[in-house]
Amino acid sequence: MQSLFFLEFNFIKSIMNILKQIQNRKTFAIISHPDAGKTTLTEKLLLYGGAIQIAGAVKSNKIKKTATSDFMEIEKQRGISVSTSVMTFSYNNYTINLLDTPGHKDFAEDTYRTLTAVDSVILVIDCVKGVEEQTEKLMNVCRMRNTPVIVFINKLDREGRDPIELLDEIEEKLNIHVRPLSWPMGIGSNFRGVFNIHENTFNFFTPNKQRIEEDIVSFSGVDDPKLHDQFGKQALQLKHDIDLVRGVYTEFNVQDYLSGNAAAVFFGSALNNFGVKELLETFVKIAPKPQGRETTHGFMEPTNEKFSGFVFKLHANLDPRHRDRIAFLRIVSGTFERNKFYYHVRLKRELKFANPTSFMAQDKSVVDFAYPGDVIGLYDSGNFKIGDTLSEGEEMMYKGIPTFSPEIFKELQLTDPFKSKQLEKGILQLTDEGLAQVFLQNQGNRKVVGTVGDLQFDVIKYRLENEYGAPCMFRPLSLYKASWVQYDKEADIEWLKTIHPHSMFYDKHGNLVFISESKYALQRAIDNNPKAKFLFSIEHNTETHGMGE
Ligand code: G4P
Repeated sequence: MQSLFFLEFNFIKSIMNILKQIQNRKTFAIISHPDAGKTTLTEKLLLYGGAIQIAGAVKSNKIKKTATSDFMEIEKQRGISVSTSVMTFSYNNYTINLLDTPGHKDFAEDTYRTLTAVDSVILVIDCVKGVEEQTEKLMNVCRMRNTPVIVFINKLDREGRDPIELLDEIEEKLNIHVRPLSWPMGIGSNFRGVFNIHENTFNFFTPNKQRIEEDIVSFSGVDDPKLHDQFGKQALQLKHDIDLVRGVYTEFNVQDYLSGNAAAVFFGSALNNFGVKELLETFVKIAPKPQGRETTHGFMEPTNEKFSGFVFKLHANLDPRHRDRIAFLRIVSGTFERNKFYYHVRLKRELKFANPTSFMAQDKSVVDFAYPGDVIGLYDSGNFKIGDTLSEGEEMMYKGIPTFSPEIFKELQLTDPFKSKQLEKGILQLTDEGLAQVFLQNQGNRKVVGTVGDLQFDVIKYRLENEYGAPCMFRPLSLYKASWVQYDKEADIEWLKTIHPHSMFYDKHGNLVFISESKYALQRAIDNNPKAKFLFSIEHNTETHGMGE
């Protein structure tokens, strides 16, 4: 009887602990087009969190500045970025997990998957350049999951574009409403600071790369004579701007932000550590706590006492002496414990982890416990694929880890006919890591590899030769886009199969894929097969019922 009591007592204690941990956690990513200031902002946030002491300590995203041909150098740097893949720091009693996303566009797919493991994002936009290509692509991924977004318009110390024009562009191109919470006075050489619209405070700008404190003064409002005495004409312009902003944009409402309908907008200069504290303080107040996720068996709440999580990223060690990989696991529910057996749902096997790792800026350390919202690194000798689920025995899998239609296609050809087994194994494993996708024809004899960047082909060729002993080459193909074809019965794709037999492939899971040669060919296929669906992304672990053989 007493033991029952203790069991119940322990159960309640563990639930209370999970609730407390969830309440105090935020897991997010900073996203931007390269060069908008993501690394600089990351560094400033880490300075506030006390995770680093000096500016210049974060080097993770310098990858983009290396010549693309020198991929070994890039990989070396990518190795460094493992330790910065997750950066955990504390601020105002919150534990904040900042997930790093690769700056190089060729690793964009890695970024897209990382976005499935966060609960919100901060989007950095360069005020000179506005919304750029990569900004749009990343935001499309956020929109698929209604991820809450805070926008940080950066580099206000530069001669940038008119703020209203920038906001219009964000609304239009990123398909999200905006709610400015602060407004700049001047820009570039006339930049004086930002006015917090809700708190009626003015944050004075003084260029200084090292400063930590912000110089914030309260006013009664934009009409305050003190503000006008100090700034004259510029204060009048600010009043005019803010009156306009209040008239045009609906007042900020946390619910609109949390549902992904409206983005909160801040202005600042990451390099000058300006507006960053304000951003961070608002972030901890409004950003969502760790959220549950959809599984093949319904929605999993983070408060469920049973541990579960999913792998969203694999990082291979390129050093042939150390073949290990790190699997990054996002914990969705319950408490993860070191050295406890967990169920690997796809392999139907129990596994335990002696050295699960957490990441604190540049340091790694072994963790004994981890909670919903946390990301831990698990040393892996080949058990994991992207999208894998660990549970306490439940046969469910997390959904929603997307695979996107690749943009560049090349045919993989073996140059040593005796190594076909090695090539087969190698390409399957490398694509499991999410490096690229492989599409098969003629019972797998023809292999077309699709990626989002050219760099991946160099990496794959190098790894196939060095890790798998399979010498190979890539033959460029002039193909436009791959789309997964969903249909009910063969008759639905009769046209496609008759007209384009050579463009029909299968992915590794046996799903039918149409790789079109041009935009026109794709549109014709869509028009002529009205009962079939052409998908440009699919989710790992989604039922593929009705998708090919
Ligand atoms: P990213 O990670 O988004 O690619 O961008 P990153 O932070 O590396 O910033 C890109 C460049 O923009 C860097 O200059 C950085 O110093 C600069 N930058 C970032 N924030 C601001 C800002 O608020 N104002 C101004 N004027 N510049 C800013 P770089 O010369 O390319 O590199 P570095 O030599 O400074 O490291």
